[in-house]
Amino acid sequence: MTKETDHARQPTDELIALLDAADTLPGVRELRAMSYELLHAEPGTSAVDVGCGTGRAVAELAERGANAIGVDPDEQMIAVARGRWPEADFRIADAYALPLADASVDDYRADKVFHELAEPARALAEARRVLAPGGRIVLIGQDWDTYVIDSSDPALTRTIVHARADQMRGPRAARRYRNLLLDAGFHEVGVEVHTGVFTGPAMLPLLVGLAEGACSSGAVPREQTDVWIAQQRARAAADRLFLALPMFVAAATAPR
Ligand SMILES: C[S@@+](CC[C@H](N)C(=O)[O-])C[C@H]1O[C@@H](n2cnc3c(N)ncnc32)[C@H](O)[C@@H]1O
Repeated sequence: MTKETDHARQPTDELIALLDAADTLPGVRELRAMSYELLHAEPGTSAVDVGCGTGRAVAELAERGANAIGVDPDEQMIAVARGRWPEADFRIADAYALPLADASVDDYRADKVFHELAEPARALAEARRVLAPGGRIVLIGQDWDTYVIDSSDPALTRTIVHARADQMRGPRAARRYRNLLLDAGFHEVGVEVHTGVFTGPAMLPLLVGLAEGACSSGAVPREQTDVWIAQQRARAAADRLFLALPMFVAAATAPR
């Protein structure tokens, strides 16, 4: 296993709490459902969810009758996934070395994962290896430079967003999906962008994570970070938090 190290990586339990909060929001549920449609997931098809986290998509694909497996290099994620969905098949592995034979799956899915990858082209070569001819791939993710956040200090907000993006291995992977898929030899490549609008407190931990990341990188002093976080908390409490987040959804077909 070749799990990359990342000093800026969020602790897994915090990430799980954030994903759980986001997962239940209406727009997020719809995006997952769209991904299953784009994969043409149906009874009898096989699917791998790469970077599956706690496994919700694997369970939902199984509900549609697909034979789905979930793969993630994080042992804690896989332990939680196995606890939540004991009937499902989860493996500890990463996107560069999938535990699957050549041309053995119909569908490949990776949701909010490619920003974690230093070598997205190598991951897509691995996707090509495991996908059957004519198999489908769907990538979903946000562009980490493109968080639209209302704030009384837009310059500081821009610094926070960009400093956090600079800590990621692939902050702009999502805007590259089309070119990466074409370069990897996929056909029928399409990209849609669906912007989620979040006004409730559910996304507050995401905003706090951006600010704490920017602080830990040295881009924003502790005091300014705390003020910015306090203002966002106050906005959430007063129903004045506003976050718009464009989510990129790319779909393509493996050569027949
Ligand atoms: C933001 S979470 C998304 C989890 C899940 N796909 C979801 O939508 O809830 C990113 C996931 O990518 C996983 N990940 C990180 N590096 C990876 C790699 N090299 N290969 C596969 N997955 C990876 C992380 O462990 C984590 O579970």
